[in-house]
Amino acid sequence: MPKFLTIQQIDQAAQAVRDRISRQPEIGMILGSGLGGLAEEVADATIVPYAEIPGWPVSTISGHSGRLVVGRLEGRVVLVMQGRAHYYEGYSMSRIGLPIRVMKRLGIETLIVTNAAGAINPDFSPGDLMLITDHLNLIGMAGLNPLRGPNLDEFGPRFPDMSQVYDRQYLALARKVAQEREVPLQEGVYVSLAGPSFETPADLRFLRLIGADAVGMSTVPEVIVARHSGIRVLGISGISNKANLDGNTITTHEEVLEAGKVIVPRLTTLIKGVLPDL
Ligand code: HPA
Repeated sequence: MPKFLTIQQIDQAAQAVRDRISRQPEIGMILGSGLGGLAEEVADATIVPYAEIPGWPVSTISGHSGRLVVGRLEGRVVLVMQGRAHYYEGYSMSRIGLPIRVMKRLGIETLIVTNAAGAINPDFSPGDLMLITDHLNLIGMAGLNPLRGPNLDEFGPRFPDMSQVYDRQYLALARKVAQEREVPLQEGVYVSLAGPSFETPADLRFLRLIGADAVGMSTVPEVIVARHSGIRVLGISGISNKANLDGNTITTHEEVLEAGKVIVPRLTTLIKGVLPDL
């Protein structure tokens, strides 16, 4: 596998998906740790295991099914990633972006991205949803940007703008739906770290100081690749745990997956509510 994704690799993967599906997907969706349950709602589903798509990064951890679910949800044709791969699993940043490139090649112009995240904002509790209003690309600042390498001009410019990553119309729509359907909805800034170790209390105090409300190990690379090619993004974090700023509690992956059970019904209500108007 070359160091950076090539257009040929992307098109090969896109063709493998196209060969398996009968409808043109309109909306892409990524379901994060413990949040895959939403894919069960998709009607007339065609399932494509990631392992059957050339070059697709396969998730290796529990809580990620590792398959594409393509079908209908609330009258829209959706392509749902039930689980995702993370940088810490050993994939290059470039490879983490492959699914988004494929979505673009399939004609998708809207992405709903979800994740499990730890709460840094003291007002947040496990089970809350947080609308992502902006992000801190700490791993990118350290050099790990998914757009590093030759620019793929077919998708977007060398220096893409990131001034409005999370679409303002989608943010307004999500707020309206949350209010109408009585889904409690927090808002804030998501910071992405490389993981897989959780943060130390000093890490967390630093993240709070620089303006982060929630912390996780995904999402930002995918969103950057999406924005590079003009895909509009709605981002939602499911708060799975309180980040351990005082050093007196322990964070575990099991806790993250357990919180998903509370989060999935709320997330499902919110996403089904926004879908018809995206
Ligand atoms: N830290 C980092 N990633 C996470 C957390 C956390 O506390 N919870 C879920 N993903």
